[in-house]
Amino acid sequence: DWTMAAYRDEKIAQIREQVGSAKVICGLSGGVDSSVAAVLIHEAIGDQLTCVFVDTGLLRKDEAKQVTTLFRDHYNIPLIHVDASREFLGELAGQSDPETKRKIIGRVFIEIFDREAGKIEGAEFLAQGTLYPDVIESVSSSSGKAHVIKSHHNVGGLPDYMKLKLVEPLRELFKDEVRALGRELGLTEAFVGRHPFPGPGLAIRIPGEITPDAVATLQEADAIYLDEIRKAGLYDKIWQAFAVLLPVRTVGVMGDARTYEKVLALRAVTSTDGMTADFFEFPWDVLGRTATRIVNEVRGVNRVVYDVTSKPPGTIEWE
Ligand code: XMP
Repeated sequence: DWTMAAYRDEKIAQIREQVGSAKVICGLSGGVDSSVAAVLIHEAIGDQLTCVFVDTGLLRKDEAKQVTTLFRDHYNIPLIHVDASREFLGELAGQSDPETKRKIIGRVFIEIFDREAGKIEGAEFLAQGTLYPDVIESVSSSSGKAHVIKSHHNVGGLPDYMKLKLVEPLRELFKDEVRALGRELGLTEAFVGRHPFPGPGLAIRIPGEITPDAVATLQEADAIYLDEIRKAGLYDKIWQAFAVLLPVRTVGVMGDARTYEKVLALRAVTSTDGMTADFFEFPWDVLGRTATRIVNEVRGVNRVVYDVTSKPPGTIEWE
């Protein structure tokens, strides 16, 4: 009889066998996959594991804090938290092309990860939360998910950590199975049920140039949107939901005054794998409440629109 508990035990035995007494580095992205991989490996080899969390400053509001709290305080897993937001935002300044932005983030990520990994003496293995669909995708295309670190090939030279041997305990699993394994390992329902989040993060949800102000504005608006979705009990019905801060200003009124501020687009889709997607049919009242709160509570936004494009022909992200 196949159970997730038995699978976990089997994987733990395999990891011990593969790694022996060597040290392992795990890159944490804040997402479900790398977190489940890290917790599983920690159960297998304890403090032989060190996690490196490169905080791009492009995560959702409070997510960096949640990751460090979960790993350090709850699981007691050694974690290096690198606050690299200034470095990322500095390199991204003045850049508005989507693929250029992705490349910059990939390159800076690798530079920083490499630097930090180099400080962990005697590390022989690199752990990643690669899933089965990532394995397939990396064979069939070059788009490579940013959280799968080794798939960034658009980098000059070979970073040192590429010399590390890989530990990829989730390679046979689909997303729903990773979630089940996460539950088995004691991660909360709220954590394992989190929507997928792209490696380049909020950078591809701010079309055009990225500024620290724009990131802060988007984080606030996005948090309100997700809060309203959760309150309405809709979070688990949606594959991904997020806000996009447009580089477009429109006119509005606030009290007696005319405003001239940015437009925020809301996106929510249903999907099973992200390859195709339908726009989510919200009850109007949820969208209405979200829009009212965002315009009232977030400075710099005076209009909210909802994206009703499905994929294809649209993509899920706007960049
Ligand atoms: P699209 O926008 O192509 O997105 O319909 C499909 C899925 O992929 C995610 N996505 C990315 N994930 N790095 C990532 O790690 C990226 O550059 C990237 N671009 C899109 C997107 O969030 C959705 O789940």
